[in-house]
Amino acid sequence: MQYPLIEKIGNPELLVGREKEFRIIDKWLSLIPNRMSKSKVIVARRKSGKTVFVQRIFNKLWSDPNLGVIPFYFDIAENQAWYPDFAIDYYCSFASQYIAFIQRDEQLVNKPLSLKKIREYGLANSNELLVDDVDLLLENQEMGLHDSMWKTACHAPHRFAAVLKTRFLVILDEFQNITQYIYRDEKCEGKPIESLAGSFHSLSESKIAPMLVTGSYVGWLLQVIAKYLEAGRLKHFYMSPYLTQDAGLQAVYKYAEFGQEAITNETALMINQLCMADPFFISCVIENQYEDKDLTTADGVINTVNYEISDRRSEMSETWNEYLQLTLDKVNEKYAKSMLLHLSKHADRYWTPKDLKEELGIDLSIDQIKKRLVQLSEGDLIDRGVSDIQFKGLSDGTLNLILRNRFEEEIDGFAPDLKDVFQKQIKTLTSENSKLRGLLYHQCERTGDYSA
Ligand SMILES: Nc1ncnc2c1ncn2[C@@H]1O[C@H](COP(=O)(O)OP(=O)(O)OP(=O)(O)O)[C@@H](O)[C@H]1O
Ligand SMILES: [Mg+2]
Repeated sequence: MQYPLIEKIGNPELLVGREKEFRIIDKWLSLIPNRMSKSKVIVARRKSGKTVFVQRIFNKLWSDPNLGVIPFYFDIAENQAWYPDFAIDYYCSFASQYIAFIQRDEQLVNKPLSLKKIREYGLANSNELLVDDVDLLLENQEMGLHDSMWKTACHAPHRFAAVLKTRFLVILDEFQNITQYIYRDEKCEGKPIESLAGSFHSLSESKIAPMLVTGSYVGWLLQVIAKYLEAGRLKHFYMSPYLTQDAGLQAVYKYAEFGQEAITNETALMINQLCMADPFFISCVIENQYEDKDLTTADGVINTVNYEISDRRSEMSETWNEYLQLTLDKVNEKYAKSMLLHLSKHADRYWTPKDLKEELGIDLSIDQIKKRLVQLSEGDLIDRGVSDIQFKGLSDGTLNLILRNRFEEEIDGFAPDLKDVFQKQIKTLTSENSKLRGLLYHQCERTGDYSA
């Protein structure tokens, strides 16, 4: 296995689990040569491992040229860009990754060639497609035909697949950003080109260059897709933010080993339990710079986990606070926080706007309450039920802890004692483990085999 695309995870060995997801995706990839794979969107909440997953798919395809699917990965950055520059950036990334694949040149994956160099390569290797594309891009640039430039760029994978009788996988990360950061104006003033996502309308139906799309803001991403790509064009692929217990434990050991952090077999279990096998949570706890950090004792683990959840400077808090703020800024604040906290605390049932009005004594109309709930669900902070008026807190342990810590004091008047919650969990874990050890011991006594 080769890793030409530098993965965001850092050391590739850190990536664990996701066996089920890789099995499904591997099957899908294996059907691309037969044109049987429809484009997909990976739907999963913030920090659940979407980027590391799609980057690994890139490297797997790159390492298996016999499958005949050439991967193209493009991250649509949160940077303002002028339309023709964006078109050239997209094209150069695509062409360079294509050349990298056929030449088996890892360097080109991370360092795209310029248009000039792409043309030179095309001439030297009798690749007319590349030469013609570069000529057309430059000609259109000269004439100010920016729409044509973008068309040449975004259609390139499909066109190359058709002409060269090969297959591409177009992986677009942070796809929603395409509606917010590309400007017709050279100085990036005025409004961005919101409809740019629509350029992928027909391309998303390509069976010779299908797309695999994802992004950090799932509610927003799905809205963009529904508006510009027609429902059903991208099959939804759901991914849980949590690993299995076994994979979570493996993540704890890996992050500790690579981060040179001392842990014991007991505390590894505790870290996994308190982080709920959430790989981002685990990585934050093990990598954080908390003073007096000691992951070899139960108290040390509790303090470190508590720091990640409750200290504003921790990576977990910063990540989630940025996300919550962005969503809450969009929602009219009045009662939004208290509804969010209430739904999260009682995430075992659905609530209607009328239920919430009565329960929380909200002096807003049912319609006003519903509007805020819809906005919260569009920001992925709550779920919606089958009927139009059902809403539910996310059954997401990490997010609940963050919400409780952030809003409980402000709304209920007292801060939650999360350390106490963690202590109770550790106690249960320890007693379960000693029961297990007891059972194992009895089993060994019966069989006479103590090797376990
Ligand atoms: N399977 C995994 N094994 C080990 N660590 C993982 C795994 N998945 C995610 N992580 C950890 O979680 C971090 C976040 O993952 P990633 O950036 O891929 O999430 P994301 O869903 O793309 O986030 P965002 O919503 O911000 O785009 C990674 O940097 C890595 O440390
Ligand atoms: Mg990501």
